[in-house]
Amino acid sequence: MANTILVGAQWGDEGKGKIIDVLTENADIVVRYAGGNNAGHTVFIGKQKYVLHLVPSGILRKKKLCVIGNGVVIDPVGLVDEIKGLRKLGVKVGDNLVVSETAHVVLPYHRELDAQREVLKGKNKIGTTKRGIGPAYGDKAARVGLRMIDLVNPKRFEEKLRLRIKENNEVLRALGAKPLSFKQVLKEYHAAGKQLKPFVANTVVLLHQAMRRGDNILFEGAQGTFLDIDHGTYPFVTSSNTTAGGASTGSGVAPNKMDEVVGVMKAYTTRVGEGPLPTENAEIADLLHGMGREFGATTGRARRCGWFDSVATRHATMVNGIDKLAVTNLDGLDTVETIKVCVAYRHGRARYDFVPNDAQTLAECEPVYVEFEGWHTPTDKARSWKQLPPKARAYLKAIAELTGAKLAIASVGPSRDQTIFV
Ligand code: GDP
Ligand code: IMO
Ligand code: MG
Repeated sequence: MANTILVGAQWGDEGKGKIIDVLTENADIVVRYAGGNNAGHTVFIGKQKYVLHLVPSGILRKKKLCVIGNGVVIDPVGLVDEIKGLRKLGVKVGDNLVVSETAHVVLPYHRELDAQREVLKGKNKIGTTKRGIGPAYGDKAARVGLRMIDLVNPKRFEEKLRLRIKENNEVLRALGAKPLSFKQVLKEYHAAGKQLKPFVANTVVLLHQAMRRGDNILFEGAQGTFLDIDHGTYPFVTSSNTTAGGASTGSGVAPNKMDEVVGVMKAYTTRVGEGPLPTENAEIADLLHGMGREFGATTGRARRCGWFDSVATRHATMVNGIDKLAVTNLDGLDTVETIKVCVAYRHGRARYDFVPNDAQTLAECEPVYVEFEGWHTPTDKARSWKQLPPKARAYLKAIAELTGAKLAIASVGPSRDQTIFV
């Protein structure tokens, strides 16, 4: 399988967790390289549901090494809770998890600032997960962040935290929010640091040693292409490089060591939070929500839904270098009479076949659709390409062709076995 980067080709929640779990079978190491516990990756094993936020989805398979890379921002208290939750479900978390010592730490003032800034933005809010992600990456870029290497050194952590709390309390007061208690934060973070210390290491050296042994690495993307801080629908984005390039900077594995990029996309489009979504459609949203689907794995918010947008996925192929496609949630369209696919945007007299950079322009774009006849047959029991209805096959082929990459996987349900290798 060699070194594979898996990215979301849309606005997040494409089903990356499920596909990672399937592909992990052939990997030795799974690495998260971006984002934080804003991510929610769902994996079903039998009837048991697992939702992973910071721990790579590879943890659910035995004898796989999971790495949280330097590009991730870590809420240590959240990570301790997540590890506890996994252990409660019988998942082994021990020497199979390693956390980068240079990953930045999310602190309570990041969460508080995240919430306060959303309030200040009013109707222009981003609709963040309020996990403190933006302020944590902001501190990293401003060179005032605390890292895991600091967290596991209690004395150094205390010194640095004292200064950071002092400054951030000034800001919080100015915003009319309650200042934080240094003592309380220190206590909570000392406890989390103590629990996490055994996991913290130099993951760059570890990954390079593993590659020399011939290990295969799977890079687990979080969020999606259009939430990328550089390539997404700014400012309605998250604060990290969620696209394929982020796998190198977020792990320390050089670009020339990467072999393949897999793009995951739904057979339709969803987005959670604010920002433009050209193909948004109430009818398909009602249909999916009525089936109990498309509620956020992290915040429980109803996801906005729309038709498949091939302008966006083609753009994603361009910026990520997607070689292969995994299309999930095909079964979500099983009952749709006429399925629409966006092939271009119209804006006044202009026509776009890529995603314009200005969020306002994108919000004003009208999709140009082509239509496909629905297949009106349940696909969730299909286990091979041949078992899919011909109209569903035609649809998959068309969206892969429009996206400009090779269709490799079609997913017809949340379970491992509901996966068709094309
Ligand atoms: P991620 O963030 O990309 O890992 O995706 P999420 O886990 O947030 O959301 C994807 C949702 O779709 C989850 O509830 C998955 O269990 C579910 N899912 C993934 N693939 C399929 C599929 O092919 N069919 C159905 N019905 N559900 C799927
Ligand atoms: P996974 O990995 C979908 C969205 C939020 C908001 C914007 C910024 O499960 O695909 P943030 O809290 O990151 O500052 O929020 O990004 N967002 C996601 N949407 N899936 C995710 O992760 C997301 N992580 C962040 O809803 O619009
Ligand atoms: Mg998700």
